[in-house]
Amino acid sequence: TKILVDGGDPAETMRVKEALGYVDGQTTNPSLIAKNPEVKKRVESGRSLSEAEESAAYRKIVQEISPMVGSAGVSIEVFADFDTTADRMVKQGQEMFTWIPNAYIKYPCTPEGLKAAQRSVAQGMRVNMTLCFSQEQAAAVYAATKGSKAPVYVSPFVGRLDDIGWNGMDLLANIKRMFTTGDGHVHILGASIRSLPHLMRCFQIGVDLVTVPAKVILEWVTAGRPMPDANFRYQFNGKPMEYRQIDLNQPWQNFNIKHELTDKGIRKFVEDYRSTLRKAS
Ligand code: E4P
Repeated sequence: TKILVDGGDPAETMRVKEALGYVDGQTTNPSLIAKNPEVKKRVESGRSLSEAEESAAYRKIVQEISPMVGSAGVSIEVFADFDTTADRMVKQGQEMFTWIPNAYIKYPCTPEGLKAAQRSVAQGMRVNMTLCFSQEQAAAVYAATKGSKAPVYVSPFVGRLDDIGWNGMDLLANIKRMFTTGDGHVHILGASIRSLPHLMRCFQIGVDLVTVPAKVILEWVTAGRPMPDANFRYQFNGKPMEYRQIDLNQPWQNFNIKHELTDKGIRKFVEDYRSTLRKAS
């Protein structure tokens, strides 16, 4: 299982690299960029950014992180509001893809996001499909990106499912099982990981990649890098998520991909992105 840092601060990635000895990759999102110390300082001092400055700040952050990480690259998220079309997302994605040589472009698991992903992989871009909360969404990612030359990442969000009473870890196990019937082009990236037990369970399930806040990685290193043995039991008191038998060989439009947490996640990313921007006067 490859380990990625979930964050938006190069200094933090460096700290993890020093403690762990390596970092396979990095994921970022608008909320994490809004929390970057330099971006935060500017916003708090009243010097909020213009859109061009926000984009330049994001570019600078990923350009600093890019050489620190290994083969899993750096995931950069497009700005996607509910009315952002696939065309606009692809345009942003193409631009972001030129920022660094190891970029993965993050699009949301929405109809427009899937269209954007389909077009992007056809152009040879690497993508990471974010805000995934259901097997159907993961199946749609599989179908929309079939034929991609590069591995496609899908990011199921564990912690946010836990937050509303589900056992989010079940989704990772279910998607892993579903993909055994596929061609292997979609790699599972465990996301919204909040604790050591989450991380241990990701290792136990054998997800391809996991993105983890620096704090949790450092905790794992301090604990002596424990790996789950035969006695390891992940315990979380959430509603079990049932496995669904899904035929992956259908057009992605056949899948019911609507999810309340995807919509909520989009709203929150838009809010956090806008919080960094200069208010129009
Ligand atoms: C990474 O790809 C995700 O954006 C991140 O893991 C979300 O985590 P959160 O639910 O803790 O915000």
